This record gives sequence, structure tokens and C-alpha cells, in this order.
Amino acid sequence: MVAFAASWREKDGIGMTSPPLRFGLVGTGYWARVAHAPALASASAAGVELAAVWGRNPQAAARLAADFGAAAPEGIDAFLAAVDGVAFAVPPDVQAPIAAVAARAGKHLLLEKPVAISEAEADDLVDAVTQGQVASVVFFTLSFRAEIRAWLADVTARGGWTGGAGSWFGSSLLESSPFNTPWRRENGALWDIAPHVVALLWAALGPVTSVTADAGPADVSHLILHHQGGASSPVTVTQSAGEQAAGFEAFVWGGAGRSAAPAVPDDPLPPLRTTLAELAGNIRAGQTGHPCDVRFGRNVGRVLAEAQRQIDRRRRAGERA
Ligand SMILES: NC(=O)c1ccc[n+]([C@@H]2O[C@H](COP(=O)([O-])OP(=O)(O)OC[C@H]3O[C@@H](n4cnc5c(N)ncnc54)[C@H](OP(=O)(O)O)[C@@H]3O)[C@@H](O)[C@H]2O)c1
Repeated sequence: MVAFAASWREKDGIGMTSPPLRFGLVGTGYWARVAHAPALASASAAGVELAAVWGRNPQAAARLAADFGAAAPEGIDAFLAAVDGVAFAVPPDVQAPIAAVAARAGKHLLLEKPVAISEAEADDLVDAVTQGQVASVVFFTLSFRAEIRAWLADVTARGGWTGGAGSWFGSSLLESSPFNTPWRRENGALWDIAPHVVALLWAALGPVTSVTADAGPADVSHLILHHQGGASSPVTVTQSAGEQAAGFEAFVWGGAGRSAAPAVPDDPLPPLRTTLAELAGNIRAGQTGHPCDVRFGRNVGRVLAEAQRQIDRRRRAGERA
């Protein structure tokens, strides 16, 4: 990896004399088709190409690969041999072990949130990235949106906030939603959309040092994030809000007033292209760290895991009462 990055650094421009970074995509479902495949296939400006697709259904992999001009090698070993980096669009408990194998084989990682459900698998993935000396980025969508980055730059420069708040009311558990997938039904908004809000408030108010959590009705989770330095921020997430109530809000507040995060468009391609460009830049520079790398993804996951434990404990206590 280091040798590859060094040889890239010697070149004087992207795509002139150096080959593009070959990315493979793991997953052939809705999110792979509408987000990762089009982002990877249109990232030549970042010196990236979509070289290969792999999924557990070979026919689906062949179809997606053909639609985006990529190969569909049979078997994960042949797939990994054909790429420099791997992007993931599969459930987190599927992503984590495959990503660990890929990292140990020296492949750079574009991961989805949450990086894993199990803390042990998240820790193993961090170990694999360290051992493989590969670059990693987790697609916390909000953190890669230009509007949100401008807001974060402003609020972190001003500082002095007493607290914040965030809510994301989604409707992915409606029958009609393409996101009504088994892992979401099982793990809910706590694991699906809380990662975005936790990552955002972490960036705005400082590292989350502890969490207090409880559940509401249906798929409703309430978290209170306690940040290093003393700020606190309540978060409510649900995927069972219904379309009329759907929406995302976040703000920070203090003696200087209140600052709300801007509304953001739905289109995932601009922030995903930014993610890819930053990952490719790190690969070429021989750098493995990023503010949203696998370690940050693991740390956000630890907050969710602790919240899940508290929610489960309260549910069990409620059932006993
Ligand atoms: N950052 C964001 O804003 C954002 C938005 C949406 C989704 N995501 C992330 O993208 C990931 C996938 O999203 P999704 O749930 O909506 O899934 P999805 O797009 O429906 O795709 C699921 C894919 O995973 C495959 N899969 C499922 N179980 C598998 C298993 N046990 N072994 C191998 N492959 C398996 C499916 O294969 P089959 O087709 O054969 O079932 C399908 O290819 C999740 O991590 C999610 O958090 C992120």
C-alpha cells in the first residue's frame, strides 16, 4: 500500500500517467444501485473507477456490474484480487466481517454506517484496518454535505455552546419504502439514523463521553449525549414516524443564542462523491486517518451499543413490573 501511494505521489496529475484506483462494490440492492454504483462510476475526476461488483446473488451482481460497465468476478477472493478499494452497501453485520478480510488483504474501505452492530466485530474491523495499513472512511452522509460542513465550521469556530439537540423522524419502516430491509426492521432507527445525528452533534459539541437512553413507542429511541467539556444534547430518532411527520432537525444553543443546522437535500450522490474523493486523496497521500474513519465509526457504534443496553434493560424491567 505504501509503495502504491508513493508511486502515485510521484505523478503530476490524476489520470494522466497513473492508473485510476479500482474500486469494488459489495452489495447489489437498492442503495448500491441508486447511490454507490453511480457515485463510483462517475468519480473519474477523483481518479477512481468502478471495477467490480460482488453480491451473494451472482445474477444480481452481473446485472448491476453490466449496467455500470464493471466486472462481476465469481467469489469474494477473485473480487478482492481485482480491486484496490471496496465500497459497501450491505447490512452492517454483513459489512463488518467482509471489510475486515478486505482490509487485511490491503484494500482501502468506503464503509457504511453503522460500521457493525456487534462491538467485537467493530473492534476487529479497526484492528484489520490497522494491520492492513489501509485508508477508511465511513459515509456519515450529513458529515459530507457541503451545507452541513459550512454550518459545522461556523459553530465550532464560535464555540461556547451549552448544548444541542437533534431529531430525525424517518419512514423507512413503511411497507412501501425501499429501505424497509430486514436489518432495519430488527435494529431500528437507533442503528440506522442515530449514527448520522450522533456523528453530527459529536462534531458540533465535542466527543461523546457517555449516553443516557430510553425508548418510546414503536421504533422511537431517545438518547441524551453527554459531551466532553460539559455540553449535553438530546436526540430522538424513529423510522416509524409516517411521511407527514418525517424530517431532520438539529441545533446548538448557549448564551450567544441558537444556531440551527441547515435543511439538506435528499440526493446522496454529492456527499458520496465527496467521501470518495477524500478517501482517494488519502490513499494517494499514504494517509489512513480521516475525521470519519473506521475508528470514529467504531466510537459512534459504542455510543449506540451502550444506548441499546440501557433500552433493553429498561424494557426488561418494564416487563417485570
Ligand atoms: N449513508 C446513508 O445515508 C445510507 C442510506 C441508505 C442505506 N445506507 C446503508 O447501506 C447499507 C445497506 O442498506 P439497506 O439496508 O437499505 O440494504 P439494501 O440496499 O436493500 O441492500 C442490501 C444488500 O445486502 C445484501 N445482503 C443482505 N443480507 C445479506 C447477507 N446475509 N449476506 C450477503 N449479502 C446480504 C442484499 O442481497 P440480496 O439482494 O441478495 O438480498 C443486498 O444486496 C446499510 O449499511 C445502510 O445503513 C446508508
